[in-house]
Amino acid sequence: MGIRLKDQTAIITGGSRGQGAAEARRFAEEGAFVIIADLLDREGEDLATEIGSSAIYKHLDVTNQQAWAELIEDVLALRGSIDVLVNNAGILVFDRLTRTSQEEFERVMDVNCTGVFLGMQAVSDAMKNQNSGSIVNISSVAGLQGVGFQFSYSVSKWAVRGMTKSAAHELARHNIRVNSVHPGLIDTAMLDQFKDEGFNAAAVQVPMGRTASAEEVAELVLWLASNESSYCTGSEFVVDGGISAT
Ligand SMILES: NC(=O)c1ccc[n+]([C@@H]2O[C@H](COP(=O)([O-])OP(=O)(O)OC[C@H]3O[C@@H](n4cnc5c(N)ncnc54)[C@H](O)[C@@H]3O)[C@@H](O)[C@H]2O)c1
Repeated sequence: MGIRLKDQTAIITGGSRGQGAAEARRFAEEGAFVIIADLLDREGEDLATEIGSSAIYKHLDVTNQQAWAELIEDVLALRGSIDVLVNNAGILVFDRLTRTSQEEFERVMDVNCTGVFLGMQAVSDAMKNQNSGSIVNISSVAGLQGVGFQFSYSVSKWAVRGMTKSAAHELARHNIRVNSVHPGLIDTAMLDQFKDEGFNAAAVQVPMGRTASAEEVAELVLWLASNESSYCTGSEFVVDGGISAT
């Protein structure tokens, strides 16, 4: 057991599987109490059981403001503080500007963008009262570049990057840090829809010639969550095997 997040309370949205689950395991190994918040109840409950006494699962739809308020109330009653929020929940669709319905665009923006806004807003009072906190927003390389075949997703991830900087400015005087993480091709269920067409071809075009595991992203998120990154706020942290360097 490590001590990098000793006695810290961390909420991880979309924590039932993929990168969020890797972060939940890693945070708990480093001494945190983790709230796994997701729509996937069975996977989330199983993960909390696997981690043991340092994790619980809570059902949360990140697009629901009332649900956020209830979650924060529960967490504060249980733990008394919220030290870390990882806004990790997200959805990916492959679409194009010219073929995207308003409904689909709004669905992606709702989860990937409004969900992050509501999460940051929901924890800010508790973090201000503590005069400390670290918020990590999961964007993407699609939030660093224009991506023609992921129109809505790319727009939403640029918005996450922008919100991060704006929130970082506002919250810095309360000793709350806000940073964004920009993963490249990470081998999780999110990319399953992409596996048949082009996944391998895309992977070999990564300068490092491979995809990454969720655990490789979790190491960066852990560092940003912890006090080791104490002077970092409002910044982008890229974990993409060199994709955005090209
Ligand atoms: N996999 C990649 O290659 C990749 C690359 C860059 C960025 N990302 C981002 O990383 C984050 C994690 O994705 P992942 O790769 O682990 O994919 P994933 O699909 O395995 O995990 C996403 C999680 O978000 C949850 N979720 C979706 N909508 C939700 C909602 N409304 N409320 C609460 N939870 C919700 C899902 O149930 C799921 O558990 C996402 O924000 C994604 O956009 C992924």
